[in-house]
Amino acid sequence: MAEPLPHCYLDGVYQPLSEARISPLDRGFLFADSVYEVVPVFTGRMFRCEQHLVRLDHSLAAIGIANPHSLPEWQGLLEELIRRNGSGDMNVYLQVTRGTETGRDHRVPQHVTPTIFAMAMRALPFSAATQTQGLSAITVDDIRWSRCDIKSTALLANVMLREQAAQAQADEALLIRDGQLSEGSSSNVFVVIDGELCTPPLDRRILPGTTREVVLDLARTLLPVNIRPVSVEELQGAQEIWISSASRNVVPVTRLNGVPVGSGSPGPHWQAMHQSFERHLRLLVADADS
Ligand code: PDD
Repeated sequence: MAEPLPHCYLDGVYQPLSEARISPLDRGFLFADSVYEVVPVFTGRMFRCEQHLVRLDHSLAAIGIANPHSLPEWQGLLEELIRRNGSGDMNVYLQVTRGTETGRDHRVPQHVTPTIFAMAMRALPFSAATQTQGLSAITVDDIRWSRCDIKSTALLANVMLREQAAQAQADEALLIRDGQLSEGSSSNVFVVIDGELCTPPLDRRILPGTTREVVLDLARTLLPVNIRPVSVEELQGAQEIWISSASRNVVPVTRLNGVPVGSGSPGPHWQAMHQSFERHLRLLVADADS
């Protein structure tokens, strides 16, 4: 589990996480009327911060909350949070809810001030076992709603699906809707089929992952890329499967429903992608230092 770091930000005040309080009438609590982002931080610097903040803006617009901050304001707010938590490697979590009501009403209230919360979590190191053995996954029915492009905190279905995977001793649930792969319970999915890297197109069935974009950019120099629907049969017969997210970068799935994927070890295309991703991160850090 990602351990939270001691300092958080709540409604304009930096404070110890252990002392932060919100009202039970906050619509984020009552209705999950709220959106969020997770931004990875390497050696104190946010990675693809702008892309995360642009996606936050889209999520807020989609649910009709005016963005309480400009991009530079958000950046400054998060940089200060990172500094207060000692910089280093971490993930920043930020959440904006519609705010606190005087009662409980499904109808969106007219005048309410958004609640803004941010905290930092220690980054989980990429384990040697994941690198040499990969992760396991199961396929499950995608029971989520039809606006998965919004990064909403209404994650009950994702939580249930991830728990279903955990009960089956698997690390991730790969979601299937109408016979086609959508994404993971908290990741985007890439599949190597006949030497080509395939991933489902962006639509309302999946989250437009920031790490997905990086993987696609880097992959174009490594192997042919094809953004297209992937059937469950293709997934099951894939040479390689990878999942990507801000907190895990890109990791290989080597067992699907208890059956080895390809050779059952992290494949050569993933090895090349992993190296490319690590190089990309090192260059970004070196650039920021120079
Ligand atoms: N989740 N799809 C889903 C459903 C996700 O929850 C996530 C990330 C992604 C990948 O998006 P990105 O590459 O921008 O992290 C795709 C975050 C990390 C979370 O909920 O903790």
